[in-house]
Amino acid sequence: MRLLGEIAGKRILELGCGSAPCARWLAGQGAHPVGLDLSMGMLSRGLAAMEQGGPGVPLIQAGAEDLPFADECFDLACSAFGAVPFVADSARVMREVARVLRPGGRWVFAVNHPMRWIFRDDPGPDGLEAVLPYFDRTPYTEFDGDGRCTYVEHHRTIGDRVREIVGAGLVLDDIVEPDWPEWLDREWGQWSPLRGQLFPGTAIFVSHKPE
Ligand SMILES: C[S@@+](CC[C@H](N)C(=O)[O-])C[C@H]1O[C@@H](n2cnc3c(N)ncnc32)[C@H](O)[C@@H]1O
Repeated sequence: MRLLGEIAGKRILELGCGSAPCARWLAGQGAHPVGLDLSMGMLSRGLAAMEQGGPGVPLIQAGAEDLPFADECFDLACSAFGAVPFVADSARVMREVARVLRPGGRWVFAVNHPMRWIFRDDPGPDGLEAVLPYFDRTPYTEFDGDGRCTYVEHHRTIGDRVREIVGAGLVLDDIVEPDWPEWLDREWGQWSPLRGQLFPGTAIFVSHKPE
């Protein structure tokens, strides 16, 4: 959120907001966020959370590939691990964000760091062995017992992400690769000090639309 710059009073689009913890936090800071997600299940959780108190945030059910907004109607856009890795055509998402941002507006999004792709999602020593080629863009998929696809995640290299951002007419300002904090000794999911001290878990792309 620090990378978004001044947020108070700004119209902010959050892509893949899930239950909208980020959008709700932004509203609490005086911003005017809109949360967008494909999943009504996740948005319903956001609505339920808002019923418990705190600022209300408009939530929109839609895909990030076709944003249901007018051109240049947001000052800022952000995403915390939402939407971008889950669409086949993430270049299109970049173009859509560029369209709805006003000139000068920032677009900041966080994804799992692309180099994580080559390792198993294991916080222990097994997660230190490279098992997949970094260059293989075949999506990761999961299926239920009836053969229905229940999860798809798409891999892009750092270069792919840079080309998609620049190809949308945006200016790439930074790629932030946060260090594992020294004080953090907790393990959860694929995250652990063992892996986090050796290579980055997150890549945050910071870009803006030219004036
Ligand atoms: C890992 S969750 C992150 C949720 C939220 N940003 C957070 O930090 O709690 C990813 C979210 O992206 C959403 N998503 C996946 N594909 C999407 C798409 N094509 N358009 C919009 N949202 C999508 C999912 O429904 C899910 O809520």
